Amino acid sequence: GKVAVLMGGRSAEREVSLMSGSGVLKALQSKGVDAHAFDPAERDLAELKHKGFKRCFIALHGRFGEDGTVQGALELLGIPYTGSGVMASSIAIDKVMTKRVWIAEGLPTPRYVLLHRGVFTREQVRQVPDELGLPLIVKPAREGSSIGLGKVQGYSEMAGAVDAAAALDADVLCEQFISGDEVTCPVLGEGEGARALPVIRIVAPEGNYDYQNKYFTDDTKYLVPCGLPAGEEQAIQEMVVKAYRVLGCRGWGRVDVMIDAATRKPYLLEINTSPGMTGHSLVPMSARAAGISYEDLCLQLLASASL
Ligand code: DAL
Ligand code: MG
Repeated sequence: GKVAVLMGGRSAEREVSLMSGSGVLKALQSKGVDAHAFDPAERDLAELKHKGFKRCFIALHGRFGEDGTVQGALELLGIPYTGSGVMASSIAIDKVMTKRVWIAEGLPTPRYVLLHRGVFTREQVRQVPDELGLPLIVKPAREGSSIGLGKVQGYSEMAGAVDAAAALDADVLCEQFISGDEVTCPVLGEGEGARALPVIRIVAPEGNYDYQNKYFTDDTKYLVPCGLPAGEEQAIQEMVVKAYRVLGCRGWGRVDVMIDAATRKPYLLEINTSPGMTGHSLVPMSARAAGISYEDLCLQLLASASL
């Protein structure tokens, strides 16, 4: 039956989603799937039903795509879709909600302070470095691809970083900075069957894995095999599978982790329930290292589409 690759959308990551979606579309078509691009920013999702689409591959990122809203609409339309359901998607899009679940489950994540737009005071902003230390990270609670993210080195930079994040989200997450190795690890499957793929270590120019270095420069190095000390990779894989499962994720996801250079302790940063599938993206890279081609990965994900 006809498959819609949902791509584009209305979030700040629209551009990234268009890159992900075109890769997925081409891969599915090359394997003989009757796949078509569908941009929910341009067309009403209800059309999916009228036009006879039987399944959706969600290649949308960020709000109105990765956050449970599109998932809810597809539930109502009765069209199976790839990836997590409504609840896991809507928790995972919110880095603070995600942390609360992980903390409740005893999983390690950097300490944080949450500021609400229109409510926080200058005094509260000034106190954040006292609580979290410097440097620290400021980011919108519900953005992806490092959009609106700032690394604060000193008190004087706090207000600007908070304002930049608050311009994108009413909830601003201030987070303890973990200095060390930046790694990411995809997870495939559901429940007891969830499995981690190989860990990737990211070495960005000056440790700055920002929007440009994620998608447009060729200056970021991706190490897979990750080259971490024996045992560390496996411990991270076990941790990310647990992090995925406690949120009720299914299909696929990618968990971002920092390893403290001094203590070698890993900390969970966030989980992406609709990870990038661009030419620079990490799930395809890790899958490749596990012997799964981009095309087969897309087919496997499509096969896991459910309601
Ligand atoms: N948010 C981007 C798409 C990612 O995590 O890959
Ligand atoms: Mg993200």
